Amino acid sequence: MSEKKYKIGYTCGVFDMFHIGHLNLLERCKEQCEYLIVGVCNDDYVRNIKHTEPVVEENDRVRILNALKCVDQAELVSIEETDNKMLALKRFDFNVLFSGDDWKGSERYLKTERDFAELGASIEYLPYTKGISTTYLKKKMQN
Ligand code: CTP
Repeated sequence: MSEKKYKIGYTCGVFDMFHIGHLNLLERCKEQCEYLIVGVCNDDYVRNIKHTEPVVEENDRVRILNALKCVDQAELVSIEETDNKMLALKRFDFNVLFSGDDWKGSERYLKTERDFAELGASIEYLPYTKGISTTYLKKKMQN
């Protein structure tokens, strides 16, 4: 019998230059679900939406995530699947989406919460680790 709140959990991000903020997030996700799927934003997303060049290429980012104890399955996701979480839900059929708490209460996520509710899926908001990000690491290396 399961002790976890959810069966299948999903989270999504770039996870470039894997750092402690990423690990904190993924470990918190895995505390709440039996099986954790990670959607890894592809290089097109990083270039066209974040307007920056990935340091670690998409297939290597997927391999690193798949090697972690707290991750059960990591897969590349498209720009469309990153922007429209209903597409991710259709593809992976998860019970819960984990997102950063900076999105909580935003128009976009309130709508996603309503759409998900009709399909029996939830959203859980998790805290962002302060003081670390891929952007921060890139800047630190430049100095
Ligand atoms: N994340 C986090 N704490 C951090 C950095 C990231 O919880 N300090 C989470 C993000 O909220 C996201 C996931 O980790 O859910 C993947 O983050 P990513 O897209 O790689 O963002 P950053 O590391 O912040 O990179 P960037 O500086 O390019 O935005």
